[in-house]
Amino acid sequence: MKYVYFDNAATSWPKPPEVLQAMEHFIKEVGASPGRAGHKRTVEANGIVDETRELLARQFNINDHQQISFTMNATDGLNTAIKGILKPGDHVITSSMEHNSVSRPLYVLEQEGVQVTKIKCNFQGDICLQKIEQAIKPNTKLLIITHGSNVTGTIMPVKDIGEIAQKHNIYFLLDASQTAGIENIDVQKFNINMMAFPGHKSLYGPQGTGALYVAGGMPVHPLRQGGTGTKSDTPYQPEVLPEKFESGTLNALGIAGLGAGLKFINRVGMDAIKEREMQLTKKFLEGVKKIPNIVVHGPRNAEKQLPVVSFEIKGHKAGDVGKPLDEQYNIACRAGLHCAPDAHHTLGTFNRKLVRFSFSYFNTPDEVEYALRSLREIAMDMPKN
Ligand SMILES: Cc1ncc(COP(=O)(O)O)c(C=O)c1O
Repeated sequence: MKYVYFDNAATSWPKPPEVLQAMEHFIKEVGASPGRAGHKRTVEANGIVDETRELLARQFNINDHQQISFTMNATDGLNTAIKGILKPGDHVITSSMEHNSVSRPLYVLEQEGVQVTKIKCNFQGDICLQKIEQAIKPNTKLLIITHGSNVTGTIMPVKDIGEIAQKHNIYFLLDASQTAGIENIDVQKFNINMMAFPGHKSLYGPQGTGALYVAGGMPVHPLRQGGTGTKSDTPYQPEVLPEKFESGTLNALGIAGLGAGLKFINRVGMDAIKEREMQLTKKFLEGVKKIPNIVVHGPRNAEKQLPVVSFEIKGHKAGDVGKPLDEQYNIACRAGLHCAPDAHHTLGTFNRKLVRFSFSYFNTPDEVEYALRSLREIAMDMPKN
């Protein structure tokens, strides 16, 4: 039986052939730790890491590629940014569509005296810009927004939010987990001061990769201290970027793969990748509408969302749909809360949860048709409540 992978919003699979080649090359021919020692293999590893940083800088219009620090994933970068800048007494504004990688660090900080305002989004996951402005207080230091919801695929108006942040002199942190590699992101045009993103989703790198952009001069304290390969004679952590946030041996193997993922995006073109993914999304949205008893949440419009669609079969828990999809039909999806309980409260789906399909460049129209046929069969077999 064919295997269909529709869980790309968690991590993309398969990876492009150049990613496998770059990682194989690194393991077999390079292997050394970048930024340490000065032997030939280290120099080569340095070159690979530096090239990936430069590719990322180009992708997001970042002036200085040293302002990008590699992280383990998006969560790692978000924790560094959030905990590194907020202090007791500060106020932070965020949305009700955030992932736990934003909500949980904020929850911890709230216990320590940081004031948190969550702007409630509507049923589509859209945020009201006026409500953001109304929430600003004299001690508001940071605005954190997810660029795209990992539940509904809703895209936030980042440019407008960046303008609000700039107008009120507030730092702007973007969680680009669902958009890096598929949406145009220009940190300068959007007034983004910090941005965290994974390397393993739409940038097509391997798991264990991610990065944090911190604009020069930002007063962000590092979460970790340790070996950086530079200024080893000082007891304190270097202030220089990217070492400030890069203690310990880097995941150079993963970074080699991430660099190849970026080269894949440049080879195929981000627009072409997005177009293919949105055609699949459109096909799925049109088909699923015709299946009785299935309710789709979010924008339900391929022109206005990411290739992420969440739905339910009326009266049934998401797990009861995800299980047959996996076990009987070999379709990998994500059924549950998607690590975004606030988003599910916003949609009113916290108790029943949702089934999520998320598409990548490597999915096909045939797979979407097969999934629609499978869903129809599952929906027909389930008792109507
Ligand atoms: C919106 C959003 N933020 C953050 C994350 C966390 O990403 P990572 O697993 O790379 O830490 C995800 C992952 O699903 C996400 O969708």
